[in-house]
Amino acid sequence: MIDIHSHILPSIDDGAQTLADAIDMAKAAVAGGITTIIATPHHRNGTFENDKRSIIEHVHALNETLQHHRIPLSVLPGQEVRIHGELLDYYRDGDILPLAETKYVLIELPNNHVPRYTEQLIFDMQLQGLIPIIAHPERNSELVEHPNKLYDLVKKGVLTQLTAASVAGKFGKNIKKFSLQMIEANLVHLIASDAHNTTTRAFHMREAYDVIQKQFGSQVVYVFQENAELLVAGETLYKDAPGRMKKKKFFGIF
Ligand SMILES: [Fe+2]
Repeated sequence: MIDIHSHILPSIDDGAQTLADAIDMAKAAVAGGITTIIATPHHRNGTFENDKRSIIEHVHALNETLQHHRIPLSVLPGQEVRIHGELLDYYRDGDILPLAETKYVLIELPNNHVPRYTEQLIFDMQLQGLIPIIAHPERNSELVEHPNKLYDLVKKGVLTQLTAASVAGKFGKNIKKFSLQMIEANLVHLIASDAHNTTTRAFHMREAYDVIQKQFGSQVVYVFQENAELLVAGETLYKDAPGRMKKKKFFGIF
């Protein structure tokens, strides 16, 4: 299993605080069936900076440590980029690191709104050949209140990543319900952990896939897992999975 969103690199953001924490997270990931994980430290979210070059160095160091400890987990470089007006300037300066050095960029919206410039920024990213993936849209209050905004973004080619803990119910019933409705409405392309530690923000990938399996069947699980593989390979992701409903039903629910 591949996890495309994690904060496993030690001492550089609000994820693993020490190398020992990172090793514990790696062990937990392996125990949870994860074989490859993309490290996605926060980029310029107001507290943490983490440019491309330093992340690649940290990933290299962590892989060496994991090999030394014989922990069968491969770490790939990535970044969780908080959206802002100058994002593409940073990209041109070589500061932005797409997931696994492909064309897929994990972007993070503020928690409580979708900035006005989001659509334009996404369009400009696409012109540069990048494919934005919105991290955990189910935790953005504006998107929860106005899911048509998410539908419009997806229609324009944006991909989305649900957090496994949301699907597993760790952030409460409402977020779980909204997450499942998003899957049903065909607005989800990837499931990832966004793990920060092994306690309060752990992996929960298997639990999430169990919920999805029960609710939607194994074909939908397959599409999400295959999409993570395709992403790492830099290939085109599936945008549809049989058995799910379309927009009409989604708005019927809301
Ligand atoms: Fe994250």
